[in-house]
Amino acid sequence: MTLDVVFTPAGLTASEVQGRTVFVIDILRATTSMCAALHHGAKALIPVASTEEALRLAQTIGSTDVLLAGEKDCARIPGFQLGNSPLEMDETTVRSKTLILTTTNGTKALLACQGAGAVYAACAGNLTVSAEKARETLQRDGDLLIVCAGRGGAFSLDDAYCAGRLTVAALGGPRPRRGINDAAIASLDLVRRYGERWARPLSFSRAGRELIRLGFRADVLDAARLDAYPVLAHFHERRVMPVPVPV
Ligand code: MLT
Repeated sequence: MTLDVVFTPAGLTASEVQGRTVFVIDILRATTSMCAALHHGAKALIPVASTEEALRLAQTIGSTDVLLAGEKDCARIPGFQLGNSPLEMDETTVRSKTLILTTTNGTKALLACQGAGAVYAACAGNLTVSAEKARETLQRDGDLLIVCAGRGGAFSLDDAYCAGRLTVAALGGPRPRRGINDAAIASLDLVRRYGERWARPLSFSRAGRELIRLGFRADVLDAARLDAYPVLAHFHERRVMPVPVPV
């Protein structure tokens, strides 16, 4: 069995990703916003690497059912209809829409995983459905990769704690087994340290403190809500779309 966690996609090579099932985490806030949008009826999200690419793509698609979403330095990009807040992704705004999304770290982390066998976006909001898929994958393939978006190519506490929660759930318990890498062991240690309290690692993290300083405390608390957006978010052929989950 192999279960690898990476704390940042920087340096991730195509061969490390090739053919594997990958879960990408940017809990503050990109993957949380994606799950909120899909849970509230958005048709799909298209992650892109830059504002320019988002504008170009919106023009190419040319439909009124497309919304531009994203942030630069945590703030909404001028001219975009939406920022990167899960609280903006309400049903009235996003139902049946396709969102073109660009964020500092989260969308780039997803794009870094192209070439994988399957890619899913994970956060606290969809932890249980993601964990179910992760456990099933590990049992079937004996292999799993969890990619934290991190911050500017560095470790981030919020994503690493979430990776730990996903790792515990995928393994079916907190005891490290042979086959998990050092980052996975460290992420399990974070779960031991913070227990079940999502709000702690999220608000202690640099990203969390920065968001709180900028007036986004409600987003940090929202991102800490376990299973608030129970949708399996599958990234395939450039789009993140919901996969129906049996109830
Ligand atoms: C990112 O992609 O770096 C984050 O989602 C930024 C944010 O929270 O606005």
